[in-house]
Amino acid sequence: MVPVLLFLLLLLGPAVPRETHTGPYSLSFLYTGLSRPSEGFHSFQAIAYLNDQPFFRYDSEGRKAEPLGPWSHVEGMEDWEKESELQKAREDIFMVTLKDIMDYYKDREGSHTLQGLFGCELRNNKSSGAFWRYAYDGQDFIKFHKEIPAWVPLDPAAQNTKQKWEAEEVYVQRAKAYLEEECPGMLQRYLPYSRSHLDRQDPPSVSVTSHVAPGKNWTLKCLAYDFYPRGIGLRWTRAGDARETESGGDVLPSGIGTYQTWVVVGVPPQDKGPYSCHVEHSSLAQPLTMLWGKRQEAKAEGDLGTRPQ
Ligand SMILES: *[C@@H]1O[C@H](CO)[C@@H](O)[C@H](O)[C@H]1NC(C)=O
Ligand SMILES: *[C@@H]1O[C@H](CO)[C@@H](O)[C@H](O)[C@H]1NC(C)=O
Repeated sequence: MVPVLLFLLLLLGPAVPRETHTGPYSLSFLYTGLSRPSEGFHSFQAIAYLNDQPFFRYDSEGRKAEPLGPWSHVEGMEDWEKESELQKAREDIFMVTLKDIMDYYKDREGSHTLQGLFGCELRNNKSSGAFWRYAYDGQDFIKFHKEIPAWVPLDPAAQNTKQKWEAEEVYVQRAKAYLEEECPGMLQRYLPYSRSHLDRQDPPSVSVTSHVAPGKNWTLKCLAYDFYPRGIGLRWTRAGDARETESGGDVLPSGIGTYQTWVVVGVPPQDKGPYSCHVEHSSLAQPLTMLWGKRQEAKAEGDLGTRPQ
């Protein structure tokens, strides 16, 4: 699927660990509409996120908003019947917009995608940011500028969409009010039910592995997994000096609400090291150091978070 907006979404999590008690917290929605649903993809799908955690989903097949993960056990946080009705109405509008754009481009053939991403952020219980934007076939299409307030076209066809969405002054005021009042209000309402999950600190499990082919460099891999939140620092040192990593560094979701990442370094056969992998994460009282020696595979130098540097 088109990755542009999804990538933006991954950046929404709290960027600064240890500040999570005051936020930022975000509530965001990712909508995807397909002109030609295929196996496994419905014509419309909505996923709602609290920070980077999916908390409910809705699609054109089931037409029901369904809480996800830990939120499926929470009582009284949301009226899911009402939420389903709201998502149904939004689906209809969304699919009309997709059809309008295809009409504009006479894009009758092939399969086309519209994505919408909107949401808001709270810091210290105050609204601290909001956004609303759309992409058509993976390209920026239109976005809302809430200070003007107005829709800003980012594509020729979006001029039409703008006219429609601004046909009455009140439409624009409503969009602004949604982002600045309604959305932060929902987030304030959701937080008491969600904070323990969003603020949790899952320390990384770390493993160091190595392999070598005759006459080639050693390849050392330091892998950190099962951690939350997303922010982490991972690096190799040789006798205390930082080494350039050969590959890795991307932090990827593990699919169960936690993250994983790794860094790889190449070590010439005659190099005696010593090499260590250092891991910093908000869940660790102290950075974690894993020492690699050629004889002993991956030997942990200290216990999780307890060893002074
Ligand atoms: C956040 O602010 C709202 C009003 O804007 C208030 O009702 C609510 O109690 C506040 N929550 C916290 C945790 O301070
Ligand atoms: C072996 O590792 C060294 C140091 O990391 C690097 O400069 C060199 O390019 C590597 N050689 C090969 C064949 O990968």
